[in-house]
Amino acid sequence: MSPVRQLYSAWRIKRFKTEKLTLTAPSCHCHSAPRVSQPHERKGSANNKETKRQKKERPSCRPVLDLFDQQYNQELEDLWASARSVLLEPQTWQYGVMLNRFAAVTDVIQCLQSQGFSRFLPQTEVPTLLGDATSPVSNSKHLTGKDSPSSPPCISKCPPDDSHSHCVSASHALSQDLQSEPSLGWPRSSLQCYIHPHPLRFPSQAHRPGQLKQYYLLNSASLLPVLALQVRDGEKVLDLCSAPGGKALAIMQCATPELLCCNEPDPNRRDRLAKTLESFLPRSLHSKVIVSAQDGQCFGQSEAATYDKVLVDAPCSNDRSWLYSCSSQQGEQRLKERARLPALQAQLLSSALSAVRPGGLVVYSTCTLSNSENYAVVEAVLNDCPEAEPEDLWEQIAVPLSQYFAFSHAHPGHAQTSNKPSLQPHKGGVSSYRHRLGILVVPQPGKTWGPMFLSLIRKRA
Ligand SMILES: C[S@@+](CC[C@H](N)C(=O)[O-])C[C@H]1O[C@@H](n2cnc3c(N)ncnc32)[C@H](O)[C@@H]1O
Repeated sequence: MSPVRQLYSAWRIKRFKTEKLTLTAPSCHCHSAPRVSQPHERKGSANNKETKRQKKERPSCRPVLDLFDQQYNQELEDLWASARSVLLEPQTWQYGVMLNRFAAVTDVIQCLQSQGFSRFLPQTEVPTLLGDATSPVSNSKHLTGKDSPSSPPCISKCPPDDSHSHCVSASHALSQDLQSEPSLGWPRSSLQCYIHPHPLRFPSQAHRPGQLKQYYLLNSASLLPVLALQVRDGEKVLDLCSAPGGKALAIMQCATPELLCCNEPDPNRRDRLAKTLESFLPRSLHSKVIVSAQDGQCFGQSEAATYDKVLVDAPCSNDRSWLYSCSSQQGEQRLKERARLPALQAQLLSSALSAVRPGGLVVYSTCTLSNSENYAVVEAVLNDCPEAEPEDLWEQIAVPLSQYFAFSHAHPGHAQTSNKPSLQPHKGGVSSYRHRLGILVVPQPGKTWGPMFLSLIRKRA
């Protein structure tokens, strides 16, 4: 057994107490946000009170906003004003619902569709696992819990007043969308994610002992790095910065790898990761998914050229969350630490490039708009790593999915600074060369997903 397997495989056998497993926030910490009112929540419910209290208590953090204004006005130019308005209005944020292919989800799909949600990814027939001890059971029972209505969410009808017309018109608009499904640059995936054009939020699902959760709430832009990784059945995959586990779950929705190693050095966050995996994956897959606790910066040394695919979803400024820092002091402290992030991110990306086998793929992603944590990190690492070659995500992801996400072009000041042969424009010229460094999802009115930066890098065979 490898050191990683020995280190932290306890999640497979650990049984967690119910109360500890009740997750009520949007599950991806990376995009955690103040709770906003859910049209399907009943008036006067505990959730509504909680939402109002949180909104009142958590205004945006002035020092963080001031710095973003200064930096992003320069880096994003006109796009910043509209991105800023979205980030400052949590009530406009959209939420994605990623279905769990290991649970029976027919009733959830019906609920989603009746509320005007629709799939945004073309998909294959969804393979599920049978004969598992924790195989899904009657679904109507899954949807009860602290943060869920006692009956399936669809029972609580479309929102009242004008929101109701959103439901009707949205269903119509999105069913039209489905007729022209985007054509990604690779085969269809079994990943199923439902989105709504308006900020309707599906209730999160509480833990039920012995039952798998049916869905996971997330910012749909979080799925793009996973799609870019193109994981196939039987591959060895490393999720270098894994907690709380949203992208690890998404990987397991796309394929059945021979091994998925989920690495997370922070013990509290690692616990949360383990619980997430336990809540969504059947026991028959537990031998394929392990949790490790290394500093990701050293991973490449200890497991060189081991993995077919590596995801580096790096610790970053996390613009959405930082804007709602608990206090000015916390915001200022975060901004001080911000200067150290690019060096850490570059170390993590270099480590990932060591851990991937020749010919394998690495995806680097963040949830910040900041150039210094995005294009600049990728460019610096590529300059030091002649065997790494960036791949164009613009044609593969940005173009086909532009009806759902707003993508910004690379910052003009970047991608033209290096003379390294591996970074010279080729094929499509300068424009495609910029896109090969990465693509950036910028929240915009009506397309509030992001921020999310992603870069795809192949290690030469
Ligand atoms: C953006 S979050 C990852 C989110 C996760 N991929 C998901 O989709 O749920 C970044 C994670 O990196 C972890 N991290 C921080 N320093 C790290 C390091 N040196 N090595 C590996 N992970 C680290 C953080 O604790 C945090 O959980």
